[in-house]
Amino acid sequence: MELRHLRYFVTVVEEQSITKAAEKLCIAQPPLSRQIQKLEEELGITLFERGSRPVKTTEAGMFFYEHAVQILTHTAQATSMARRINAVDKTVRIGYVGSLLYALLPQIIYLFRQRHPDIHVELIECGTRDQIEALKVGKIDIGFGRLRLTDPSIKRLLLRKERLKLAVHKNHHLAEFINTGVYLSQILDESIFSYPLTPKPNFSTLIQSIFTELGLVPKKLSEVREIHLALGLVSSGEGICLIPESASDIGMKNLIYIPVLDLEAYSPISLSVRNMDQSAYIPYILECIKEVFEEEGKPIQLNED
Ligand code: BEZ
Repeated sequence: MELRHLRYFVTVVEEQSITKAAEKLCIAQPPLSRQIQKLEEELGITLFERGSRPVKTTEAGMFFYEHAVQILTHTAQATSMARRINAVDKTVRIGYVGSLLYALLPQIIYLFRQRHPDIHVELIECGTRDQIEALKVGKIDIGFGRLRLTDPSIKRLLLRKERLKLAVHKNHHLAEFINTGVYLSQILDESIFSYPLTPKPNFSTLIQSIFTELGLVPKKLSEVREIHLALGLVSSGEGICLIPESASDIGMKNLIYIPVLDLEAYSPISLSVRNMDQSAYIPYILECIKEVFEEEGKPIQLNED
């Protein structure tokens, strides 16, 4: 059995159709059917129910499918890792969520560049959700993100829980809470902007999940493309928005930032790498993170999440 046979089988299961699978694999339908038949003969297992449409996988077929996916994933990871080790140029590709540029990310990257001038750093903006796939295919080597997403082939370290703040216009009636803070239950009647409009889960999903966790339902929550739009609308008196506290440095005119008192109101900041990655740049970047955190007096968590 060759890896391509596993790839054929996995594609047929996922597409539930020989025709669609053949299209996706860019091969003709009859050879694909023959290869699947040969695989069944070789294994001595019926992988698909005969004559079913859409193509239905048998129980034994599903079991084989799950293991076939793992074999293909591990092979892809091993290939990408071996390529990286073999690469002459030492480049580390770092995926990051845009809003981390207002947090400590620039300081960390700057320090890393100073400490390791022989390693070329490539920064690639990439949402937390997309970082998982990007890590798996070797498009990035490290991901800095904000959501709690898990995947068996990715190791994720929680670095810090960043508190959220409420951005309001300086003349907004909630501005009086600037020193005392507000609970999310106090803003349910307000017009709240969340962001971004990228595929979910994203920061907007996080905000909604915090309300849900607290058993709260905001009356008017609208999504806008990105944080600058949300803050611009708040500055125009259209409503209010929740931001990670570091984003208050954006400095939009006439805004004030109120602490949110609910314990659940935080955005996790985490680092993700491939499970099997033993590269030296991982301890190097962790050292830089620790140093910057110490300089800033921030507690570092470094728990596997
Ligand atoms: C932070 O602000 O805590 C942070 C941002 C990016 C990477 C690591 C930490």
